[in-house]
Amino acid sequence: MTVLITGANRGIGHALATRYAQRGLVIGTYRTAPPDDTPETLSWHQLDVAQPQSQAALCHKLDGHPIELLICNAGIYLDKGENLADGYPVDQWEQSFASNVTGVFLTVQNLLPNLQVAGTAKIAIISSQMASSTRAPGGSYIYRASKAAALNLGRNLATDLKGLDIAVGIYHPGWVRTDMGGDSAAISTDEAADGLVNRFDALSLGTTGCFETWDGRPHDY
Ligand SMILES: NC(=O)c1ccc[n+]([C@@H]2O[C@H](COP(=O)([O-])OP(=O)(O)OC[C@H]3O[C@@H](n4cnc5c(N)ncnc54)[C@H](OP(=O)(O)O)[C@@H]3O)[C@@H](O)[C@H]2O)c1
Repeated sequence: MTVLITGANRGIGHALATRYAQRGLVIGTYRTAPPDDTPETLSWHQLDVAQPQSQAALCHKLDGHPIELLICNAGIYLDKGENLADGYPVDQWEQSFASNVTGVFLTVQNLLPNLQVAGTAKIAIISSQMASSTRAPGGSYIYRASKAAALNLGRNLATDLKGLDIAVGIYHPGWVRTDMGGDSAAISTDEAADGLVNRFDALSLGTTGCFETWDGRPHDY
């Protein structure tokens, strides 16, 4: 089984890559540079998910190579602490949507032939509890809107890809101690990755379109 993970050079993506490298072949993508600690079963490719040329280059390199599980993990959270009166600049909206929304769509679109070649395949989109419109505590408008859009993408892709035997799940990875989550977050990257791997194992055409937490609870939309 080959797994491809975007944004695998650090944080949750790196912990997931380490887990899957123990099981078989993993393709990790990095934007600038791969990390030093690389098991033999982990190969690295450059990918900036927001750049169509970078997506096309990866697509060309992986032509014909089956991918059984695609994990769209790369993401940014730029507007932490912005204030409503004069914050949330336009360039933050542009960058955030380019990585968190367009980046997810382009990754799925470009790697769809690789998923189809695999026969049956899965796509996991790492969204967030901040995607929820039911749970709306305010603030972080850009990140929340981008993750809500990623959730919506996943739900609609689930409908369109079911006929191709590709299941799509959308996940909240927990509040995780990473550069993004910060030091006071609730769980480690290992805990998040262990939980997520279990969720991806459980994903099927019967549960496609699910929005779940890392520890297996259905999430409010
Ligand atoms: N940590 C949390 O508490 C938490 C909670 C809910 C959801 N999430 C989601 O979980 C995912 C992983 O988060 P994390 O906490 O591991 O964050 P992180 O430590 O900040 O790592 C983010 C990863 O995404 C990559 N990335 C960002 N933009 C990219 C782009 N345009 N192209 C390619 N790679 C890009 C980064 O690459 P560089 O090293 O090049 O920047 C890095 O590898 C994200 O989607 C995040 O929104 C995290």
